[in-house]
Amino acid sequence: MEEPSDGRRMGGAERRPAEGRSIATVGGGEKKEGNAGGEYGGRWGRRRRWSSPTVLLVFKNTKRKFRYTYMIFPVSYINKIPFYDLQIIKMFKTCAATIRCTKVVRNVNLEKLRHNYLFPEIEARALEHMKKYPDADIIRLGIGDTTEPIPDIITSNMAEYARGLSTRTGYKGYGAEQGNKDLRKAIAESFYKGLGVKDAEVFVSDGAQCDISRLQLLLGSSVSVAVQDPNFPAYMDSSVIIGQTGDFLDETLKYKNIEYMTCGPQNNFFPDLSTASRTDIIFFCSPNNPTGHAASREQLTQLVEFARKNGSIIVYDSAYSVYITDDSPRSIYEIPGARECAIEVSSFSKIAGFTGVRLGWTVVPDELYYANKVPVINDYDRIVCTCFNGASRIAQAGGLACLSSDGFKAVMSVVDYYMENAKILIETFSSLGLVVYGGVNAPYVWVHFPGSRSWDVFSEILTKTHIITVPGSGFGPGGEGCIRVSAFGQRERILEACARLRSVLL
Ligand SMILES: Cc1ncc(COP(=O)(O)O)c(C=O)c1O
Repeated sequence: MEEPSDGRRMGGAERRPAEGRSIATVGGGEKKEGNAGGEYGGRWGRRRRWSSPTVLLVFKNTKRKFRYTYMIFPVSYINKIPFYDLQIIKMFKTCAATIRCTKVVRNVNLEKLRHNYLFPEIEARALEHMKKYPDADIIRLGIGDTTEPIPDIITSNMAEYARGLSTRTGYKGYGAEQGNKDLRKAIAESFYKGLGVKDAEVFVSDGAQCDISRLQLLLGSSVSVAVQDPNFPAYMDSSVIIGQTGDFLDETLKYKNIEYMTCGPQNNFFPDLSTASRTDIIFFCSPNNPTGHAASREQLTQLVEFARKNGSIIVYDSAYSVYITDDSPRSIYEIPGARECAIEVSSFSKIAGFTGVRLGWTVVPDELYYANKVPVINDYDRIVCTCFNGASRIAQAGGLACLSSDGFKAVMSVVDYYMENAKILIETFSSLGLVVYGGVNAPYVWVHFPGSRSWDVFSEILTKTHIITVPGSGFGPGGEGCIRVSAFGQRERILEACARLRSVLL
C-alpha cells in the first residue's frame, strides 16, 4: 500500500461522489495494534452490507483524535479510498469464503493509477466539517460545475425535439456517428471562422472528457506524452490507463515516462520549451484549468513551432475558449502551421451549462499525418464509428440552438455572469494582499499562498469561513502553494463568500 501524500489528484471528471453513497464503514478507537483480528463487528463502526467481497483495513490515524481507524469496504474500492492522513497497518479479508474470483488478471495500468480522488477527498473533508459545525452554511467554490440555468431558448429547442421523437414524422433512430451535419457546420462556422476548419473535420461528441479518452485509444500505448503541470487530470490519468506511463513515484509525485511541463508564475504559465524533452504528444489546455491562464499568441506560436520541429502532435483543449476576454487565441488553429500538428477538443459544458446534457466536439484536420503518411483523421473516424455511436440527438438540437444568433447571445450572458463573479473574487483576494492569477480569461481564480501547502490553506479557509476551494497540489506538484477558486456560483453566494473571506483573512 502506498503512503499517503499531498500529491493525490482527482480522477477524471470534476464531479461529486454519488449522493447518499458512503464508500466505507468507518470506526475508531484506542484499540491496540495487532489486536484487530480477522473479524469485524458493530463496535468498530456502523455496519454496512456490501454485495461484493469486502476487506477490513486498520489504519493508524496520524492527525485525528483516535489513534486507530477501521474501515470496511469492497475490495474493488481499495484504490478509491483517500488515504490522505491515514497509514495502513493491517488488511484483512472479511468474507473470504464468499469471494469467488475469476481468472482474469487486472489491467496492470489500472494498478498504476494513484487513488486520484481529489474531489471525493474534498467532499469527505466537507462532510467531516459539517459534522463538526452542523449549522455552518457551507459555500462551495471547489468543483468547476456550472450553476446557472440553461437559457430557455436552448431548452425549448431540446424539448421540442424530444417531443418530436414521439411522433411518426419526428422519430429518428441512430444518427451519423460523426454528428449532425448542420451542427458540424455550425461549429466550424462559429468557432473556426476564417481558420480553414471544414465541417467534415468536426466530430461531435458527448463531451471533451470522453473525446480525450477516445484520442488515447487512437494514439495507443507506445506514444510518449507531455502535460502541463498543474493540469486537468483527464490527460494524465487516461495516459496511465492506456499504458503510456511508468509507475507513480512517491519521491517526485509524478508518473515515470511523462514529461511534466511546469507552468507557473515564474514562467508566465508557459513551459520552458528550451528544456522540455521531445514527446510524441503534447496535451495543452488554454484557457487553463486550473490556473485560468490563457496562452498568448506568442506563446502558442512557440508551442506550434516546437511541435512542428519535433514532429509532435498537440492535443489542444479549448473547453473554456468563450471565457477569453482579451486577444488571446481562442483556437490553436489561429496559429499558422497548427493544422499540420494539432487536434483540438472542446465542449458545450462550460459554454452553455451542458455539463449534464453532454455535448462536445473534436477537430482533426485533414492535413495531420502519421509518420507513415496515413491521415490521422481516417483513424479517428474509425475510432468514433467503432467506439461511439454518435451524440444524443436531443443534446445536438440543444447545441444547434446555442449556435443560433439569439441562442449564442443568451449563453454568453451566462458566461458574462460567471466572469463578473470571477472579477469579484479577484478583487477580494487581491484586497487581502494575495497574488491572484486567472479569472480574466477563465472562470477559475488561482490564488498563491507563498510558503504554505495547498491542503493547509484549503483547511484553514474551510475552518474559518466554511468555504470549499480546491488545493492546487491536487492538480499536480506544480500547483503546490496555490488554491483554485471556481467562479461558477450564484452571485449572492459569491458575495457572501467574499464577505466572509474579508472578515476572517484581512
Ligand atoms: C479543461 C477541461 N477539459 C475538459 C473538461 C470536460 O468537459 P466535458 O464536460 O465536455 O467532458 C473539463 C471539465 O471540467 C475541463 O476543465
